[in-house]
Amino acid sequence: MTEFSELLEDMRRRQQAIANGGGADKLAQRRAKGLMTARDRLDSLFDDATFQEMGGHVRHQARAFGMETRELPADGVVVGTGYVDGRMVSAFAQDFTVLGGTLGKMHAKKIVTLMEEAAKFGSPVVAFKDSAGARIQEGVDALSGYGCVFYQNVLLSGVVPQIAVVCGPCAGGASYSPALMDFIIMTRANAYMFITGPEVIKAVTGRTVALNDVGGADMHAAVSGNVHFLAQDDSDAVRIVRKLLSYLPQNNSEEPPHRPSPDISLAEDDGVRALIPDDPQSPMDVRRIIERIVDPGEFLEVHRSFAENIIVGFGRIEGMVVGLVANEPTVRAGALDMDAADKAARFIRFCNCFNIPVVTLVDVPGFLPGVEQERGGIIRHGAKMLFAYASCTTPKVTVILRKAYGGSYLAMCSREMGADFVFAWPTAEIAVMGADGAVAVLYAKDIKAAEDPKAKAKELAAAYRAEFASPYLAASHGYITDVIDPARTRSTIALALRKALSKRELRPPKKHGNIPL
Ligand code: HXC
Repeated sequence: MTEFSELLEDMRRRQQAIANGGGADKLAQRRAKGLMTARDRLDSLFDDATFQEMGGHVRHQARAFGMETRELPADGVVVGTGYVDGRMVSAFAQDFTVLGGTLGKMHAKKIVTLMEEAAKFGSPVVAFKDSAGARIQEGVDALSGYGCVFYQNVLLSGVVPQIAVVCGPCAGGASYSPALMDFIIMTRANAYMFITGPEVIKAVTGRTVALNDVGGADMHAAVSGNVHFLAQDDSDAVRIVRKLLSYLPQNNSEEPPHRPSPDISLAEDDGVRALIPDDPQSPMDVRRIIERIVDPGEFLEVHRSFAENIIVGFGRIEGMVVGLVANEPTVRAGALDMDAADKAARFIRFCNCFNIPVVTLVDVPGFLPGVEQERGGIIRHGAKMLFAYASCTTPKVTVILRKAYGGSYLAMCSREMGADFVFAWPTAEIAVMGADGAVAVLYAKDIKAAEDPKAKAKELAAAYRAEFASPYLAASHGYITDVIDPARTRSTIALALRKALSKRELRPPKKHGNIPL
């Protein structure tokens, strides 16, 4: 009979082999390059001593290409649960030191089991992607494995938050798993993501391209829009995951982690007034307005380098979690274009999935005019914003700071799109179109006949602005809750939010709407 001590010794030896991944040399090489190992990543994500591994002993079942004798610890993926700031999170990290972190049947099964359990426990999923893709030796079983992971990504969408950290290779169809999740964080060091890389592009199109130009983190953050957060390295990525989770509920049946202040401060903030330019044509830096509206240090911008003409992000106002959407007039005058509409619509839909109130700050001259925009489908893209706002049933508070013209007034969550409260600054201009364009149409003959057409147009535009674009006109028609002193913006939003948190809105049952894609 085997001694108990021998059983324990055997267990420890097996555990050590699993923990060693692809071997001490390979782990050391990674660390020497400044990269974390799969286990380092999970250790730094989770609160101390809270990680419980699942399926460390799982073994691949491949037989071809000499795989029978090949040991792949944990089958190349470390899977388990732990706590992040005291809240349960399900996570996995692909281990590149084990056959390139490639995905085979059992590797995929471990991930799928984790996700099924995350749905049961209602815990967010965090995925560290560092893999050379489908394990070639496992053929169609590897493809099937990917399919099963994608399927779970879709089942979990809108049920628990899903966050992907792309921190190594993520090539071909493998990149669809992060794309099906809610947020992608990508590290500048070591990571790339593409459907077809430079070699295939060269072979098929003859064009030579650099890896970073088709798959680098900077490109995806600023150009393709696939990446929501750019991280310098692994520890920066983990910092972003932890911060992001601090704004999110565990699942769709919970409220986000509000920490409401006992009393809402009614103090005026002169600093906001000081940020408003005298000239309505001068752009206003809305990021500085956001800083004054949210609690100190409580703003996490999402998609910062993509479609910079609109800002989206999570924040807290008097402790209440909000999703903020704001036009950024210093970039393309804050006009809405295709990318801005996609960015805002996706963010609003995430907030709606997870019960997060939406605060919208409006300073928008319109949709961006241009042949490229029309041919690219600005109608289809812009419609996503209308669809997203109109279908969002979480509390919605809108503040019109300055311009709100035409369709973009509606696309930035007007009363008609279901805003619960719409406040306007006295500087708000709400009209079918901007004053200059409107008088050019309305008074074309008068301007032409005038002695000084330019001066006449200016005079007519000023009169139009005062009479037709005034917030009091919109308020007199019942479209504005109130016109407020900009110095009271934060307290006004906070009070409205506090009341709206109890909002319940029932819609006619349906399978799902058909958002224009
Ligand atoms: C099996 C693989 C592998 C793969 C790498 N390895 N890719 N094993 N299947 N797809 C193994 C290597 O043989 C090596 O094994 C170990 O992983 C590390 O790989 P290296 O090449 O030594 O590492 P490195 O030099 O850092 O290069 C990394 C790499 C390269 C650039 C990712 O390995 C590579 O190009 N691999 C092929 C990538 C690929 O084409 N994947 C399929 C994508 S298509 P040893 O034994 O030496 O440790 C796809 C379809 C998904 O994934 C479809 C989903 C719908």
